Amino acid sequence: MTKIAVVVLAAGKGTRMKSRVPKALHPLAGRPMIAQLLASVAELGPDRVVLVTGPDMEAVAEAANGAGIPVDCVVQRKPLGTGDAVSTARETLDGFAGDILVLYGDVPLIRPETMRALIEARARTPQPAIVVLGMRLDDPRGYGRLIVDEGGALDAIVEHRDASAEQRAIDLCNSGVMAVAGAHLFGLLDDVGNDNAKGEIYLTDIVAVARGRGLACGFIETDADEVIGINSRADLARVEALVQERLRRRAMEDGATMIDPASVHLSFDTVIGRDVTVEPQVVFGPGVRVGDGVRIRAFSHLEGATVEQDAVVGPNARLRPGAKIGPGAQIGNFVEIKAATIEAGAKVNHLTYIGDARVGERANVGAGTITCNYDGFTKSHTDIGAGAFIGSNTALVAPVSIGDGAVIGAGSVITLDVKADALALTRAEQKSLEGGAARLRAKKRAAKLAKGGTKRTAKGG
Ligand code: UD1
Ligand code: CA
Repeated sequence: MTKIAVVVLAAGKGTRMKSRVPKALHPLAGRPMIAQLLASVAELGPDRVVLVTGPDMEAVAEAANGAGIPVDCVVQRKPLGTGDAVSTARETLDGFAGDILVLYGDVPLIRPETMRALIEARARTPQPAIVVLGMRLDDPRGYGRLIVDEGGALDAIVEHRDASAEQRAIDLCNSGVMAVAGAHLFGLLDDVGNDNAKGEIYLTDIVAVARGRGLACGFIETDADEVIGINSRADLARVEALVQERLRRRAMEDGATMIDPASVHLSFDTVIGRDVTVEPQVVFGPGVRVGDGVRIRAFSHLEGATVEQDAVVGPNARLRPGAKIGPGAQIGNFVEIKAATIEAGAKVNHLTYIGDARVGERANVGAGTITCNYDGFTKSHTDIGAGAFIGSNTALVAPVSIGDGAVIGAGSVITLDVKADALALTRAEQKSLEGGAARLRAKKRAAKLAKGGTKRTAKGG
């Protein structure tokens, strides 16, 4: 087996994104595009990975280190072109004689199968020194074109800006991905100059250099969707849409029903069980796990939350990080849950905020209940026991604990702990004055008449 090294280029400024964030960090399905790419690289399982970033891109290196595969980071001081970027990996890969696969950080959807196909094509006679991954585009503007000879061998790659009208008519484009013999790569780059429209050292020029040295070059093709380059925000949105489609298809294959799939937004790590129904317009941020038989109703937003089996969430619910919804629990409309465990069968159905709390099994939290978890300085915990009943419009001023089976009267402001099975109320006693309303009206009417004088008609006020 040949050894494989992967070089990922991510030092470009990404000017066309018009962003203060490096392009490699722009997210796809909730994680930086560089992490998405490296996750596929990890599946390939190469022997070495070298990431080329620019100066002041520590955050890119950091995102790469979280991808679950060891990555050597090197810095390209100035973005002098893709060829120069690959050259910065020269020392790190000194003496590496296997295959070097070059990937572009802004072409993040490439699958491990396709990477493998490139390596395999390198091994086939006539053992090309370079195998480029090509694609056909209806609108190839901006991409390099593959110049292929009559025998079907690759002769050169010409960048759009440097191409003649005749070459621009070619629809076979460079995806940016190539496999190169480690023994040749850096030697070929030595002969690449920057005499071109952008004044850059193009990696793509190594094909012409190799041909000049009598080395064979080849290409394989893949579906354009897999290798769209992200150069602008519009490209980013297109690629996001493709990623979302992949994720939704997987969720449905795994047994989820989506009533209007296109309106559901998933994250790269969303886990959805079987017989889950996801209604329209639901957003899953990163870190969400949904158990079997759950219903997520329309317009809900979930992030960093787990929902256990047969629970119902929404419509219009918000689950924030640390929300744990137990089996069969119900979270209703305009309810926000943060860092709180809602145990089995508990109900929090209307207009409520539960933060830093536990709601015990089968407890019932009435409409408009608020855990006052923050006093402007620190966060405090609220504990609600099993089977407790919290009347509507209750403020639970944390830290506070409500015992099992306790009942809180509606409209209470609870600042002290309530024992199990106790009834607690804090509202003022109700008074009723018989005939009071009629007397009040008569008094007000008389006062108004006296003030308005003769201008007022008999209709009165
Ligand atoms: C490049 C290819 C083009 C191909 C297209 C596919 C070259 C010269 N052109 O064009 O043939 O069709 O990708 O998407 O390679 N980078 C660096 N350092 C640099 C310059 C770029 O690390 O000095 C990185 C960028 O961060 C990016 C990648 O290399 O991830 C590609 O650079 P970009 O400028 O986007 O190249 P394109 O013009 O898209
Ligand atoms: Ca690009």
